[in-house]
Amino acid sequence: MAHLPNSESEQSSKLSNSSAESIAFSGLSFHFLTLFPELFLQVLQSSLLGKAQKRGLVSFSLIQLRDFATDPHRTVDDTPYGGGEGMLLKADVLYSAWKSIVDFSACERGKPKPLTVLLSPQGEIFSQKMAEELASYSGIIFICGHYEGVDQRFIDLCVDREVSIGDYVLTGGELPSLVLADAITRLIPGVVGNSRSLTEESLENGLLKYPQYTRPRIFKDLSVPEVLLKGDHSAIAEWRHAQRLERTIKKRPDLLKLRRF
Ligand code: ADE
Repeated sequence: MAHLPNSESEQSSKLSNSSAESIAFSGLSFHFLTLFPELFLQVLQSSLLGKAQKRGLVSFSLIQLRDFATDPHRTVDDTPYGGGEGMLLKADVLYSAWKSIVDFSACERGKPKPLTVLLSPQGEIFSQKMAEELASYSGIIFICGHYEGVDQRFIDLCVDREVSIGDYVLTGGELPSLVLADAITRLIPGVVGNSRSLTEESLENGLLKYPQYTRPRIFKDLSVPEVLLKGDHSAIAEWRHAQRLERTIKKRPDLLKLRRF
């Protein structure tokens, strides 16, 4: 299994093997099973995700599915029984890759089993509420599907949740898995500096964010709303709440129906 480097000096080797790292680790471990591990590096090493990893709040490992193929051509896919378009990812290859992460003997000793998530357009639609649920796990395995799909037997045996990021079809599960990892990581305590920025923000109690402004005070004849300039904190809070309601009614009235009052 390849772990992302977590220090500047490790970065030149790009990916490094370290089982000791995973034994000592107590944050949330993300494992990505993929045919395209190189797609992940830039995203996982940058910004908040990179920082969270360096600070030991999360760990990321990339597992190349092709390493688990057993034939000389390293075949990972095959045609569907019964005919039909395209190729399917093979159950045996996926299962070997998955088993390389799930430590059954540790699970028997009481270690929580990681949650296995298949990214697919057939899944339940990802949401902030689901991100909150997934942030409570200690390990998540993302299965990044490709081609026309995945042999159903692997799904039946190993997959806990099938998740879609929206009603459109992408070329694979890599980008969706990064979307989930990003949304989940920023909910882990200590990842986002100011906890108020989490509770106040867009969607996290069913309302969109209020409009925000920074210097200059006047830009192209447009002035910052007066209420924000006077330092009256309760007037500001009231204005922001009203703006959140107004925006949500205008742009996303569907959210008001789902809101937890
Ligand atoms: N794979 C292809 N399209 C997808 C989508 N919309 N969501 C999750 N995984 C996918």
